[in-house]
Amino acid sequence: MTAGQAARAEFRLPPGSRTPQFAMQHSYPISGLDPTRFLREHWQKRPLLLRGAFDFKQPPISAEELAGLACEVSESARIVRERHPDGPWRVSHGPFSEADFAALPETHWTLLVTDVEKYLPELRGLIEPFRFIPDWRIDDLMISYAADGGSVGPHTDEYDVFLLQLDGEREWRIGGLARDAEHLPDIDLKILKHFEPEQVWRVKPGDLLYLPPGVAHYGIGRGPCLTASVGFRSPSHREILQAWCERLILDIPEAARLEDPDLALQENPGEISAAASEQFQRIIQARLAQSPLAFKRWLGEFLTEPHPILDETEEPTLDEPAFHRALSAAGTRIERLPGSRIHWQRCGDEWILSVNGESWQIPEELGEAVKRLASQFSLRADALPSAPQAGELLWRLYQARAIRLVYFSRPGIPHSGRVDFRRYALTLTGLP
Ligand code: SIN
Ligand code: CO
Repeated sequence: MTAGQAARAEFRLPPGSRTPQFAMQHSYPISGLDPTRFLREHWQKRPLLLRGAFDFKQPPISAEELAGLACEVSESARIVRERHPDGPWRVSHGPFSEADFAALPETHWTLLVTDVEKYLPELRGLIEPFRFIPDWRIDDLMISYAADGGSVGPHTDEYDVFLLQLDGEREWRIGGLARDAEHLPDIDLKILKHFEPEQVWRVKPGDLLYLPPGVAHYGIGRGPCLTASVGFRSPSHREILQAWCERLILDIPEAARLEDPDLALQENPGEISAAASEQFQRIIQARLAQSPLAFKRWLGEFLTEPHPILDETEEPTLDEPAFHRALSAAGTRIERLPGSRIHWQRCGDEWILSVNGESWQIPEELGEAVKRLASQFSLRADALPSAPQAGELLWRLYQARAIRLVYFSRPGIPHSGRVDFRRYALTLTGLP
C-alpha cells in the first residue's frame, strides 16, 4: 500500500456484510482428492500439489476483512516484514491499528492470522473437506495476506499442513526434509540458513498444496495474495508422557512411600543394590498400569483441552429452566463454542464423552446424540436423535462451555452471544 493509499485507509462496513447470528457454514467442495489414496501415498510422507481443488466464486474472506480481524485479535495476528528498517524479517504482533497498516511498505510484508475459524465460525467450511482426518488432529485455520514479494522466508513446520490458495498467486519453492537444519541467528522467525528448492510451483486460486512435517518450503506472493492453511497438531512424546504422569500422580496417595522391611545387609554402603533398583522399577510399573477405561478417560481429557480462545467467549447466562425453554423453542440451533472440543470413545460397552478436558461415562441411549454433537459444529436442536436424557446432556455441555444456543428470544430476533468480527473491515486499496 502506498502512502497515498494509506491516507485513504478507513474503517467501514464490509460490502454486503453478512448476518452474524447464525454460523451457517457451507463446506467448500474439493475435487481430485481421494482420501484413501492420499493417506496411503502422501499423508506424513510426501508433498502433493492439486491444481483446481477448489472452485471459489469469490474468496471466502477478503484481505480487508482479514486486516479488520487483525485489529481485533492479539496473539493470533502477526505481521512479518522482510525489509524492516531495523533489520530483516521483523515480526510484530497484534492487535494492529489502521495506522500500522498505513505505515507498511508496498511490498515484502505478510499478515498472518491464526485460529480464524474460531473467530469466524462460518469459515470452518474451509476445514470441512479435510475432516477425513480426525478432529483431534486438527489444530486451526490460518489465513495470510501477502503483499507482492511477501513471505515468511524458507522454513519447515513441525506439523502437516494443507495450503489453499484463496486469491492471487503465490510461488512455492519446495525443498527436501530439513528437520535439524540451521536457522538464521537473532531473528524471531525460524528461517533456514540454507535452502535449495527442488521444485517450484506457482499456484492460483483453488490450488491446494499439502506438506508433511519437516519439508522445507518458501512461499512468496507474486502480486498480492491470500492463502489459507489448515494446520494439524500432534503432541510430542514429551508432552504425552508429561500429561499422563501428571494425571497419574494425582491418583497416588501422598502417604504411599518406598518401604523396605526386608532390607538385607550389604557389603558396601555406597552401592545401590540390584534389589533396591528392582524395587523402584516395581513401583513405577505398578503405578503405570491402569485399566483401559481409566486410560481412555485420561486420553479424552488430554485431547479435549480447550483452546485459550474459549476464555474469551461468553459465560453461560441461562439458568436450567430458561435453557430448556430455549432448547425446545422452534428453530433453535446448537452451536459449538469456539475453542471447545468434544470427542467420544468406546471402551467395551461403555461410552466415554470427553468435553473441554473432562471425561464422562454416558448411557448407551445417548450414543447417537453424542456422535452428532461431536461431529457437527452447528445443528438444529430438533435434529438431534431424541433420547430421554438428551436435554440433561445438553445442559451439561452448556455448563461445560462446549455449546451455546442460538434461539429466537422474540419472534424474528435471533439471540446469540457471538461477537461479530466482521463488523468492520479495513479498507486497503490495491489488494486483489
Ligand atoms: C503463509 O501463509 O504465508 C505461510 C504459510 C507457510 O509457509 O506455512
Ligand atoms: Co510453513
